Amino acid sequence: MTTSLTDFGDGYQLITLENSRGLRLSCTDFGARLTSLTKNGRELVLGFDQASDYQQELGDAIYYGAIVGRVAGRISGAEADISGQRYKLTANEKGRNTLHGGGENGLHDKKWEVELGDNQVIFTTTLADGLHGFPGNVAVKVIYFLNDEDEWGYEILATSDQDTLWNPCHHVYFNLTGDVSQPLDHHKLWLNASHYEPLKEGLPSFTKADVTGTALDFTKEKAIGDALHSLDKQITENNGIDHPFFLDDQQGVQARLISPDGQLSVELSTNQPSVVIFTANFGDNTPIARGNRLAHQGALTFETQVAPGAEQNASFGTLLLKAGEPYYNQTIFKINSLK
Ligand code: GAL
Repeated sequence: MTTSLTDFGDGYQLITLENSRGLRLSCTDFGARLTSLTKNGRELVLGFDQASDYQQELGDAIYYGAIVGRVAGRISGAEADISGQRYKLTANEKGRNTLHGGGENGLHDKKWEVELGDNQVIFTTTLADGLHGFPGNVAVKVIYFLNDEDEWGYEILATSDQDTLWNPCHHVYFNLTGDVSQPLDHHKLWLNASHYEPLKEGLPSFTKADVTGTALDFTKEKAIGDALHSLDKQITENNGIDHPFFLDDQQGVQARLISPDGQLSVELSTNQPSVVIFTANFGDNTPIARGNRLAHQGALTFETQVAPGAEQNASFGTLLLKAGEPYYNQTIFKINSLK
């Protein structure tokens, strides 16, 4: 395993870990984000090579690969009850809803402290009481790891000094072709999820629906294009997939993404109850990433978390982080070379 440190511009650093099998991971203290993951030289994730490229609005570049929170996804109406008190939150989407915890100065936007460990990179930061309207000072730690079994992943740990809402995610986007100008269509996806959350006008519906008979049924591996080009209203109304999937259990592999050429797959394991899959439904107004313009539906997220809307449906899990209690998200991706 080798570790190197380079300049990422604007005062940020880039840390690169490389294992003995040609898997290389780069992450930065800017948003504790993953910027690059290459297997034998093929780029597998959406990202840029310098900090300033993330600071553009095209295709929501600011969230690529970053840690997002306090609460990933949308809180309708930008208000929430926390331990019996009503809080007004920053309405950073359409002036109405809170998206990804409220935007500017959030976790994705901060300069984190960085420490190098054994095959690990450890980032720490704090969110101040009152930021974006949420109560509690939250101490956050994110640990990236890479090993010689071609697994990489992250742990997110946090504690708050007051009861607060807390549901962060890691916003990695995969495109296994090595070229984000190629849409996801011919990637295959399998998900251990027999239920998903339909959206209502792009917002959480607070309901669970069976995937059977819908475009969102990935319980048997299928081409993502079959879903993206279907006339299912959940797809047409949201310009693609942008949905929470409830994982049937928290054991073993819960999702698998396979490259169009069949040479690579990524397998997801997580301790979280759901994964939000967003297929980068950005239209044509997208940035150029490593020489290629991101296609509409050109990359896919696996955002492991509690499904958005849990604040109004306890069967999803809870977003409440009680004062002094530990939060822990562990998510692992295994990269398999199939040929
Ligand atoms: C996703 C969300 C999308 C979009 C994206 C950021 O998590 O589901 O709707 O907001 O983040 O561009």
